[in-house]
Amino acid sequence: MEKTLNEQASVFYNNGDYEKSAALSLQVLKHDAADYTALVNLGNIFYLQKKYGRALLYYNRARKRQPENPVALINLAMVGYDSGRFSKARIFLRQVLRKDFRNQTALILNGQINLAEGKYTAAVKSFKKALRAVPEDVWLHAYLGRALQKQCRFKKALDEMLRAVELSGGADVQHLDFAYGLYEIADEKGKNFVDSHLREWHQKYAENDIVQQTWNAFYPDKNFTVSKPEYIRTLFDVFAENFESCLHDLDYHAPELVAEKAAFFCHGDARKKWRILDAGCGTGLCGKYLAPLFENKEIFGVDLSAEMLRQAARKNLYRQLVNDDLLSYLSSMPRQFDLVVCADVLTYFGDLKRLFYGVEKVLCPGGIFIFTASKNTYDDGDWFAHLSGRFLHGEKYLRSLCAAQGFSILDFDEKVLRREGGKDVFGWVVTLRKN
Ligand SMILES: C[S@@+](CC[C@H](N)C(=O)[O-])C[C@H]1O[C@@H](n2cnc3c(N)ncnc32)[C@H](O)[C@@H]1O
Repeated sequence: MEKTLNEQASVFYNNGDYEKSAALSLQVLKHDAADYTALVNLGNIFYLQKKYGRALLYYNRARKRQPENPVALINLAMVGYDSGRFSKARIFLRQVLRKDFRNQTALILNGQINLAEGKYTAAVKSFKKALRAVPEDVWLHAYLGRALQKQCRFKKALDEMLRAVELSGGADVQHLDFAYGLYEIADEKGKNFVDSHLREWHQKYAENDIVQQTWNAFYPDKNFTVSKPEYIRTLFDVFAENFESCLHDLDYHAPELVAEKAAFFCHGDARKKWRILDAGCGTGLCGKYLAPLFENKEIFGVDLSAEMLRQAARKNLYRQLVNDDLLSYLSSMPRQFDLVVCADVLTYFGDLKRLFYGVEKVLCPGGIFIFTASKNTYDDGDWFAHLSGRFLHGEKYLRSLCAAQGFSILDFDEKVLRREGGKDVFGWVVTLRKN
């Protein structure tokens, strides 16, 4: 049987070909300007592109055609939620729940809004109500865990988050969520408090890289000197889409700080011809700040996460982006860069010797290396494996390593690099010159 235009548009939408999908929906609207399915499909396409104004336009037209249909109402509520207009979102949700008080999507969204507004008891109530209809829903257990954590019902919160991991069949995103819950709760209540949950998780999923990294961060041994590439890849592949908005919320400004140092220390006309390596470039935030400083735009980026690189490629700032482990990339490159920058990357390495060796190797004589490092405020060791799974470094260690690896220190500037759990994360922006 031949597919209708709306059915074809839906196939393209599900395959991620939004342009073709939108073209078909517009074709439908030529025959019937108020076709509900086509209007909702166009709204969804704009919603995915975060073009909320246009999404609202189409959803509202759909609502006019079928005022009681929950699809457009819920989508309108989603736009309200995503753009922080919670009271607007509630109006639409109330309309849906008045007709169908068990509507699962509306209950979940209601819970999320309560969570965002700090109404934790109401959030727990919404999520529990929704769970009665779908007791095996992975995200509902995860959200309920978050809401319980906010109510300081920590054990129950961990139970729910672990349930989400199990129900998802061990999906990476749920492992990461659980790992983050363990870290936050341990930070507040102490490591022993979460020990039984950590052990249960570790016993069930010992092979998983996220589980191993978290276990190592809680119980480090002498072999835990650097994060495993598989862990980094998974973490940032999952995180890539929301990386910039999350870090904006954490007041992250390592890339600007690095660029400020580059502007100060890399001067003179020669700079115009410099070749730059953004080591661990992620989504290309350093590129954004460095590009205006270096006229010929010879910026190269390397990163383990293909998804982060996909975001970086969109910025159109890099001459080349390479998906590789930093250590293997550096070891395979000849001497060719005038500047190497590393913003918030050293925190995934404990032992920095191989990294410094590799950077020294690829830098031209007199070349500059600018990096940020987070400060070890816990002990006076060279590095410290933090419960978050990141490494913090000691100032003495960094200074001695710079000297031993053939660099002169031009600047060693203590800064707040970002915030985490409401606290400042201190570190340094360090500028070195190759001897
Ligand atoms: C916190 S992000 C910072 C990204 C970017 N430098 C910025 O400041 O926005 C850390 C990045 O380092 C990358 N990374 C960590 N360890 C790496 C390694 N061994 N090899 C390549 N990339 C690595 C991660 O994939 C991630 O994209």
